[in-house]
Amino acid sequence: MTATDARGADTAALDNLIATESEAFLRRQPKGGEHVRRAGRVLAGGATSNWQIAEPQPVWLSHGTGSKLYDVDGNEYSDFHGGYGVSIAGHGHPAIVEAVSDRVRRGTHFAQPTPDAIVVAENLTERFGLPQWRFANSGTEATMDAVHLMRAATGRDRIIKVEGCYHGHHDSVQVSVLPDLDEAGPADRPASVPANTGIPRAITDLVSVVGFNDLAAVERVLVERPGEVAGMILEPVMMNAGIIHPEPGYLAGLRDLLHRHGALLAYDEVKTGLTTGPGGITALFGVTPDLVCLAKAMGGGLSTAAIGGTSELMDMVADGRYEQVGTFNGNPLAMAAARATLTEVLTPASYSHLERLRQAMASGIENVVAEHGLPWHVVTAGAKGCICFRAEPVRNYRDFLTIDDRYGHAHWLVQHNGGVFLPPWGKVEQWLISVQHTDADVDRFVTNVARLADRLTSPGHP
Ligand SMILES: Cc1ncc(COP(=O)(O)O)c(C=O)c1O
Repeated sequence: MTATDARGADTAALDNLIATESEAFLRRQPKGGEHVRRAGRVLAGGATSNWQIAEPQPVWLSHGTGSKLYDVDGNEYSDFHGGYGVSIAGHGHPAIVEAVSDRVRRGTHFAQPTPDAIVVAENLTERFGLPQWRFANSGTEATMDAVHLMRAATGRDRIIKVEGCYHGHHDSVQVSVLPDLDEAGPADRPASVPANTGIPRAITDLVSVVGFNDLAAVERVLVERPGEVAGMILEPVMMNAGIIHPEPGYLAGLRDLLHRHGALLAYDEVKTGLTTGPGGITALFGVTPDLVCLAKAMGGGLSTAAIGGTSELMDMVADGRYEQVGTFNGNPLAMAAARATLTEVLTPASYSHLERLRQAMASGIENVVAEHGLPWHVVTAGAKGCICFRAEPVRNYRDFLTIDDRYGHAHWLVQHNGGVFLPPWGKVEQWLISVQHTDADVDRFVTNVARLADRLTSPGHP
């Protein structure tokens, strides 16, 4: 007798598939294995970030071109990882190559602004509707500035954060990112769970955690802690728990509630900004917050970030009431790449192309899922998307926790061995389609989903 779980698949087949695909993965990448062993002597964990440590081993890459990536063993992949949501331009996009090559010959760092910074800020103002911007170097820095600014402007210390949202690795937001159910507390009053070691308890205690799509929870915190809450930070579409969309009225309701209580609203659009549409979720939903944080896709592959805000808040930066600083802020090389990305790559024609491929991905996978009678569904947001390995929609982190991690991992392995590179965090992450992707990349992805579905529903299938 085989064990069949609530999702309809044979769980022994799932474990078996993970084991055989892991073996194939290692067989395909012998040089990768050598790199892992050599790196392990000098790089902690054999990689340059803990997020690069995949099972069964970190993937060592050689180069990328267009929509493709190549590992050190010469295997080709359609790149749907996109460097965790960065590479919307694809690799070696001519506009970015030209902008960066030109800049690199004329000096790459001065710690003074260059004219490209004005073009980038003007473009972001047009897209996101916020009047003033500053730059930083990573999503972490942008959300750190947002939290500092909300505290500085209100003179209050407490922030509200959504359970399951990730905002980078600074202390204030390393709370309840991926908590286990047994530590997360009741769903309507989630506990504040440190998301890493090294975070002072005093800082974690200043974070009130709420469920996504739960306006009542936000209101309760504001009422129970009058005059304490500086503001709330959230991913307006959650993208570190698969993809979870806000329910109608949620974002507008948040803004009204917070403002009524003298608190501010910050969107972390580090993942959603520019990938979900020209002006991110801010423009799509028409609910402009007090602050927007951007990073990832805006830099065309170079590390840069931005924070946009209302005149009231950004005046505090301008006159030094809040010191927004950084040696590399507005770095000329990063600004040249961002300028090219915003003005030459992410054009209306590119967004039409991304939308056509989004539809092809969604319908191709939905057909496979229906043909195999699997209780899965597809969630997309512009160039981003994922398979949700359960039938019912997911409206918050607690729903997301019900998904068996093994499906995401099995999917990752099957895609990898089938020539598609995805982020190695299974159900947590999404695909990213770049402007250089084609129907052939989509077909490769969908074919691999069919192979996964075959293997799970008829375990003898090769
Ligand atoms: C929504 C969100 N915010 C912030 C960050 C942090 O960005 P970075 O890794 O550039 O510091 C991430 C990273 O994945 C993210 O997904």
